[in-house]
Amino acid sequence: MKQSSVYECSVIPLNKIHNRAGNITIVEGDNNIPFQIKRIYYLYDIPRGEARGGHAHKALYQLIVATSGSFDVQIDDGVNKRVVRLNRPDYGLLIVPGIWRELFEFSSGSVCLVLASTKYNETDYIRDYSEFKNYKEK
Ligand code: TYD
Repeated sequence: MKQSSVYECSVIPLNKIHNRAGNITIVEGDNNIPFQIKRIYYLYDIPRGEARGGHAHKALYQLIVATSGSFDVQIDDGVNKRVVRLNRPDYGLLIVPGIWRELFEFSSGSVCLVLASTKYNETDYIRDYSEFKNYKEK
């Protein structure tokens, strides 16, 4: 996925079952999203003005959901950049491998849920932007 582009990343509408007691959204791996879910983590208590991310993955697929509040995700394939604002729990941003991402402008109390296609593996990360550019160009 070295050659992946930001145009392969998309905001996916998730289901929402509504009744008078509120809403429920269900995500099933390989059904609503194009990968099996091996790991879930969530970011919360993010101080005002802080940014997260600042790295790419070589093989990992992720679905990012603003389960509460809102934030921006900038995705970058080394050529093109897009900023996606997530602010609804029934939409998720699919990020394919080989994309540099930064998350910022977190609203107070926001929660960023991440569904991931593999278990944690530090060797899958590219944490240096110039290394990322080299990786994409070769
Ligand atoms: P990182 O992925 O760099 O966070 P973010 O992209 O949100 O800024 O991870 C932050 C720290 O947490 C880093 O030391 C690695 C560790 N970590 C794990 O141990 N397991 C995980 O599944 C994740 C996502 C992070």
